[in-house]
Amino acid sequence: MKISNLETETRVSDRPDQFALDVLHGLSADPKSLSSKYFYDDYGSELFQKITGEKEYYLTKCEFEILDRLAGELPSLLDENQILDVIEFGAGDGHKTKLLLDGLLKSGMKIDYYPVDISEKAMLLLMKNIYDTDYLKINGVVGDYFAGLRHVQSISSKPKLVLFLGSSIGNMEMAEATAFLKVLKRNLKSCDSVLIGFDQKKSAEILNRAYNDSAGYTTQFNLNILERMNRELGANFDLQHFQHYGFYNPRSGAMESHLISQRDQMVYVQDLKRSFHFERFEPLHLEYSFKYLPSDIEALAETAGFTSIRHFTDEKAYFIDSLWGFGTLI
Ligand SMILES: C[S@@+](CC[C@H](N)C(=O)[O-])C[C@H]1O[C@@H](n2cnc3c(N)ncnc32)[C@H](O)[C@@H]1O
Repeated sequence: MKISNLETETRVSDRPDQFALDVLHGLSADPKSLSSKYFYDDYGSELFQKITGEKEYYLTKCEFEILDRLAGELPSLLDENQILDVIEFGAGDGHKTKLLLDGLLKSGMKIDYYPVDISEKAMLLLMKNIYDTDYLKINGVVGDYFAGLRHVQSISSKPKLVLFLGSSIGNMEMAEATAFLKVLKRNLKSCDSVLIGFDQKKSAEILNRAYNDSAGYTTQFNLNILERMNRELGANFDLQHFQHYGFYNPRSGAMESHLISQRDQMVYVQDLKRSFHFERFEPLHLEYSFKYLPSDIEALAETAGFTSIRHFTDEKAYFIDSLWGFGTLI
């Protein structure tokens, strides 16, 4: 494991007090909310891995199917570059990315791989799946997407493939996704490419099942954010008095995750020296997971200034990995 590479990059991590500031802001707001990036402490990253193995959670399986097929074809779509920087936002455990990297390496490419993830645990899991060779150098960046973007700007001038897999783009509202992609584009050159995973709009039953797995890992995953505030900020959330509620909202086109207070209660957060009042049935919003139509993807690419080159989908057409570039269609 190239932990030394990882350690040299931790300087770009979120500021340690950022969590406390965001909790103060999110619990003081009306309606209350917290960023879904705080799901991913060590335990949250382990729970996410468990969710992806659940039968109802089709997203990972569908994307795996797509990337498995795409791996052989991808090198020919990348201008036949022989050296490449692969930058991946929210890389997670990297098990799907490995398919693509193996495909690129098989074609004779030499790769510098920069996985960016806010979770150090996820990075350690990734480094068990993917390791350095003479042709693949891993430079893990523990930090948020924007730290990753700054990093993209400061690293080499080699051709780049930017990966944003697993439907993480869906956690951003449209304005945020557009702004993020515009900044990304400003940091890239015309020879670079981007591959983004989008979960497709589909029947509400399938979506609701995927985000409410019968083993209850999604419930634990959501409640863990309260546990994280207890552990890291000295809060006194009683998890029994909050209920996870995840549902598809066809009007917004997003799965929404909330924790709903089951009674009127006060919660004290030691590090903030503040109490927060939750009314009975008051929601704490944790996550959007926006779903896309192919036309939504194309509109987003265009607004952000990219050319949508090709969509790759699975047999059920549940998921799309969309390849974007700058020039003419292939
Ligand atoms: C839904 S998981 C997807 C993981 C992987 N890409 C996959 O497809 O299985 C999201 C990953 O992004 C990371 N993440 C979430 N918000 C982030 C942020 N704002 N900046 C950097 N990483 C983030 C999490 O730690 C997690 O590993």
